Amino acid sequence: MSKKFKRTLITSALPYANGPVHIGHLAGVYVPADIYSRYLRLKGEEALFIGGSDEHGIPITIKARKEGVTPQDIVDRYHKLIKKSFEEFGITFDIYSRTTSEIHKKTASDFFQTLYEKGEFEEQESEQYYDEEAGQFLADRYITGTCPHCGNKNAYGDQCEQCGTSLSPNDLINPKSTLSGSVPVMRKTKHWYLPLNKHEAWLRQWILEDHKEWKSNVYGQCKSWLDLGLQPRAVSRDLDWGVPVPVEGAEGKVLYVWFDAPIGYISNTKELLPDEWEKWWKDKDTRLVHFIGKDNIVFHCIVFPSMLKAEGTFNLPDNVPANEFLNLEGDKISTSRNWAVWLHEYLEEFPGKQDVLRYVLTANAPETKDNDFTWKDFQARNNNELVAVLGNFVNRALVLTQKYFDNKVPAAGEL
Ligand code: 2FM
Ligand code: ZN
Repeated sequence: MSKKFKRTLITSALPYANGPVHIGHLAGVYVPADIYSRYLRLKGEEALFIGGSDEHGIPITIKARKEGVTPQDIVDRYHKLIKKSFEEFGITFDIYSRTTSEIHKKTASDFFQTLYEKGEFEEQESEQYYDEEAGQFLADRYITGTCPHCGNKNAYGDQCEQCGTSLSPNDLINPKSTLSGSVPVMRKTKHWYLPLNKHEAWLRQWILEDHKEWKSNVYGQCKSWLDLGLQPRAVSRDLDWGVPVPVEGAEGKVLYVWFDAPIGYISNTKELLPDEWEKWWKDKDTRLVHFIGKDNIVFHCIVFPSMLKAEGTFNLPDNVPANEFLNLEGDKISTSRNWAVWLHEYLEEFPGKQDVLRYVLTANAPETKDNDFTWKDFQARNNNELVAVLGNFVNRALVLTQKYFDNKVPAAGEL
């Protein structure tokens, strides 16, 4: 039997502020979360819908470097654009904030400190590539070299885009730093790890036994992660863009973006409701629901719950309705290949037609499998379903109301 809750806190994945949002974002996360929020409010239930931009992480620093601007410039540009697109598409967030806000930095920093003081992390030293010319450690994406599998000379330290193999920087032949072009050297560095292996037993019980009602794609992915066995995960990085690690001797280190981003849900709630936020996060009568895409399942079902559990005073999600992906004309949507329908561009082509897109993406939502968006289908649904079926229904209802009811819709039960 599922528990009866008094109120619902709805979060939707914080999109990276390194590019505009596209139809895949809307179909997979924001329209479903918005429909659910509107539905609860219509029923008169207490609901809060939290959104915001995820403004840390390596892709943002890479984009800034390419353009010769600062990471802050990049996130300022895209946060504004993303926020505007969501407003134009009627996504009814109660707040849409950002992870570069002061309140977020403090909340994330305090959260780390609490876990640190409770002894919830393990410290580990490891060897990582360091660029002596640039004077910094290199994220995997900042290292290129030859792929040991297919010979591609421009493979990245985390993946070869030619053959698709996922790599670690040590696999690359003739590694080179993309910052200075020099050959990186190995250097010792210390990081803090969340020992997910220690959380495995309760996670198994909580997900596999207590939440059998979760969507099968979510449940299935969690089960495979848990069956493979969880490993400690580093929650800090050697980088100068992010929330500084609040520990002595951690200069030049920031929180891993996937540590600080979900805390963004908490800090945005705090920003909106400084005196009431705890009711939404800690009261056992509040139901927490995360809307996400399938690539975020492990972080919302395993990593973030472990962080919350380690902290000890927060609720865990009651459900994580992750959707699959939406493809475009048979091909995977890709920001780097510019293969997407960007929301702001859609509105330039179809001004005022937000609801047509919302309808098509809802009718064709990738709930249980990847779906395909095609312009042919968009046209057919607009013409056959919205104009012909819905339009005809509304037209008849109006004509009959005029003809038989003196232009007034009778109240329910009146006839
Ligand atoms: O996949 C993404 O776009 C991430 N920026 C989602 C973060 S969700 C949450 F943790 F903030
Ligand atoms: Zn390769």
